[in-house]
Amino acid sequence: MMLRLLSFLLFVAPGCGYPSTQISSRVVNGQDAVPYSWPWQVSLQYKSNGAFYHTCGGSLITADWVVTAGHCISSSRTYQVVLGEYDRAVEEGPEQVIPINAGDLFVHPRWNSSCVACGNDIALIKLSSSAQLGDEVQLASLPPAGDILPNEAPCYISGWGRLYTGGPLPTKLQEALLPVVDYEHCSQSDWWGSSVKTTMVCAGGDTRAGCNGDSGGPLNCPAADGSWQVHGVTSFVSSRGCNTLQKPTVFTRVSAFIGWIEEVSGRRAGRAPALAPPRGAGGMGENS
Ligand SMILES: *[C@@H]1O[C@H](CO)[C@@H](O)[C@H](O)[C@H]1NC(C)=O
Repeated sequence: MMLRLLSFLLFVAPGCGYPSTQISSRVVNGQDAVPYSWPWQVSLQYKSNGAFYHTCGGSLITADWVVTAGHCISSSRTYQVVLGEYDRAVEEGPEQVIPINAGDLFVHPRWNSSCVACGNDIALIKLSSSAQLGDEVQLASLPPAGDILPNEAPCYISGWGRLYTGGPLPTKLQEALLPVVDYEHCSQSDWWGSSVKTTMVCAGGDTRAGCNGDSGGPLNCPAADGSWQVHGVTSFVSSRGCNTLQKPTVFTRVSAFIGWIEEVSGRRAGRAPALAPPRGAGGMGENS
């Protein structure tokens, strides 16, 4: 099974050897998001020849920490995070550009860049100064540890990734409805088979998908109380194309990494309603 990571970094890497682009960088068949409707969405940017370029998305989980994908981080690169971004082509006012110190990139210790399907595609980034929270910049709520969404849960992907396989990067944040495909369905042989693990979430599988540049960004899912929780970190799509039928976009399942996130970031229980005690029956267990 050929997997395609969704980061722009990989997209620009030479010699991928696949017929279509290898990295997903944009939401396919989505729409312009309502400005600042996903106020925890960040743009992760790397420095090249003195300028910064969008490579991945991410989610602000505390005023000082962002969660993104492991494959978005290269220890040799210099990064910055932009909060409060909507149209990347316009200086709109709410943007906060925050540099990242080299020692503040924490990729999951079990992430293996040679084995995307092994999972653990998650990383934490500590901001060099705290986010200023307000209408345009707010914290993501995370689900309780072990929480599993039902099939067809109506989640939304958001990101500045490619508009279609090999297509352009949008300047305005995109969003698309991406219903969850539960593990039972997603792991069937004519879907993702054994490439999908219980520590992942599948969503989509028809015309809409994440694409290169969406990596690391959120899968936003409605909670029972009407709030949104970030259940996924965008990880990979099929190398045959971002919106290949029965190859849903695959996310790292945030609820499998709550323990690791708390351990690394010091995120305190009680900050968000999401951090209720783990439910006995709900989960596949903590991964880490
Ligand atoms: C990473 O994955 C590759 C490919 O599956 C495997 O050969 C290698 O042993 C793995 N590395 C580690 C450290 O587990």
